[in-house]
Amino acid sequence: MQVKTFEEYQQAYTKSVEQPEQFWEEIANHFQWKKKWDKVLEWNFKEPNVKWFQGATLNITENCLDRHLEKNGDTPAIIWEPNDPTEDHRVLTYKQLHDKVCQFANVLKNNGAKKGDRICIYMPMVPELAIAVLACARIGAVHSVVFGGFSAQSIADRIKDAECNIVITADGSYRGTKEVPLKSVIDDALVQCPSIKRVIVLTRSRTPVSMIKGRDVWWEDEIKKVETQGNVECPAEEMDAEDMLFILYTSGSTGKPKGVVHTCGGYMVYTGYTFSNAFQYQPGEIYFCTADIGWITGHSYIAYGPLSQGATVVMFEGIPTWPNAGRFWDIVEKFKVNILYTAPTAIRSLMSFGDDVLKGKDLSSLTKLGSVGEPINEEAWHWFDEKIGHGNCPIVDTWWQTETGGFMISPIAGVTKTKPGYASLPLPGVQPILVDENGKEIEGNGVNGNLCIKFPWPGMLRTTYGDHERCRTTYFTAYENLYFTGDGCLRDEDGYYRITGRVDDVLNVSGHRIGTAEVENAINMHSSVVESAVVGYPHDIKGQGVYAFVVSPGKHGNEELTRKDIIMTVSRIIGPIAKPDKIQFVTGLPKTRSGKIMRRILRKIAEGDTGNLGDTSTLLDPAVVEEIKNGAL
Ligand code: WTA
Repeated sequence: MQVKTFEEYQQAYTKSVEQPEQFWEEIANHFQWKKKWDKVLEWNFKEPNVKWFQGATLNITENCLDRHLEKNGDTPAIIWEPNDPTEDHRVLTYKQLHDKVCQFANVLKNNGAKKGDRICIYMPMVPELAIAVLACARIGAVHSVVFGGFSAQSIADRIKDAECNIVITADGSYRGTKEVPLKSVIDDALVQCPSIKRVIVLTRSRTPVSMIKGRDVWWEDEIKKVETQGNVECPAEEMDAEDMLFILYTSGSTGKPKGVVHTCGGYMVYTGYTFSNAFQYQPGEIYFCTADIGWITGHSYIAYGPLSQGATVVMFEGIPTWPNAGRFWDIVEKFKVNILYTAPTAIRSLMSFGDDVLKGKDLSSLTKLGSVGEPINEEAWHWFDEKIGHGNCPIVDTWWQTETGGFMISPIAGVTKTKPGYASLPLPGVQPILVDENGKEIEGNGVNGNLCIKFPWPGMLRTTYGDHERCRTTYFTAYENLYFTGDGCLRDEDGYYRITGRVDDVLNVSGHRIGTAEVENAINMHSSVVESAVVGYPHDIKGQGVYAFVVSPGKHGNEELTRKDIIMTVSRIIGPIAKPDKIQFVTGLPKTRSGKIMRRILRKIAEGDTGNLGDTSTLLDPAVVEEIKNGAL
């Protein structure tokens, strides 16, 4: 399944374009199916309707667990490093992980879970999170993992949208010196969620929690019940290739986050194939992905992709800067990590602490590095290359999205020549195309445009949960017969791709996707706010910061307090990750005569680029621009 040389990559790529069905069929044959497909691919991007491996049945957990047991049952699947370095780490072999997944799958069944049910997971980065995810997949329940940085309101929105009937959570979680009372946040969310019949609570932080009779049960008690029943095995549910595997909510330019739906067969094939190739994973290698399972990176490249390939994955509960900024490097040294996959924002943050924290750390085990989540600036790329990779680890800059399921444009470690800041070339099976505003293809090299994909790949989203029309209008109507990514992109003279960032109203703050409309809605909920406009601005560590222009006549001179109240409101409505970094009070927003906010102007002001604001003559009240410019933070 791995391409080993650049020629092999080119051959694989050509085949994937000329004979996509044969190409993916051969890849799919490397996986374990209960029944093989009747048809490899059926598709159109109009409705859209995309089906891979129709007629096939499988269970992804048999590929991630059972099939490794005979030869590699004692291979570590997960090495878990706790938040507190003085606490013991844990190792789960494939055999142990298999048993725990089966056990918890039986817990889910005992608590009424069935195939097709939606289950919300809100947990810390502990092995039980991976176990919960896989246990859902084992019984054919659809997981909807919500990242720990989201508020009760955001959780409630997601639970209601997916009509979940069970929540899996923990009493609390540790993040550096902070403790987050997860169960208490869930309790607040559930006030709005009558569909939830059961809450399963893992013990982690021993934070006091209120356990509601008849609804809430302890994870540990439920496991004991299963043990006394002697229920260790749990047969894997037979799933159709196109049955739903999970829902993951993500932000777009309008409205509430949408539930991106991935299905069992194609997603399994795609994450396994891309993981194996991009990182050129070899048996025995230790792979450390610093993402949280609450994001797509954790789903695809902590859980499913690596486990389907029998890899050993390091999972980390804490944060890169606690107890100090050397924590990642301690973990690399401790477990002799070979492959480190992290985000530009983490790299920039660690860079800012200077190179002293690197002194005495043995990073010699590293052979491959990876980056994801946002464009990596050249300075960070070089630091990563020189200080962490010592100039001899390829940097795999993986461009992809929640919607794509897996890597799309990425170097293949040791095979593709890398270039700082470039995601480089499309992986086999991926057909990128650049288009101009009118949807006309921009051909040739040395060009810039909007990035689209013109042919389906097995890992792509199938729909947005409960609202297929939204999927169509968000991704498939901007340009006819193309999937539109929302990203701008440059293709240089060598045909190498460099992602330049979002071209829609989506911000990328520390690698987290945040819709400006969502933040505006949250700000506008504050009682003294009339209206607001949110844009991004360049931020040294976060990549982008959140800049809010707020009309609030009622602030009564107490700006500082109002500012804090607004931040609190955003935390409450979305979560701490969406908090504005800057709030500028203004008397009005620049609007066109038809009432549209001219974000272009606000973006320039936020970026500190006020020299040339372009044409402001169409504005309703051009004077407002002067005022905003003068008050810029
Ligand atoms: C951005 C994360 C440049 C991009 C996997 C995309 C990147 C959005 C890269 C998706 C990269 C992700 N280089 N930009 N290597 N990786 N992005 O859904 O703007 O959280 O559209 O998926 O992150 O974010 P998401």
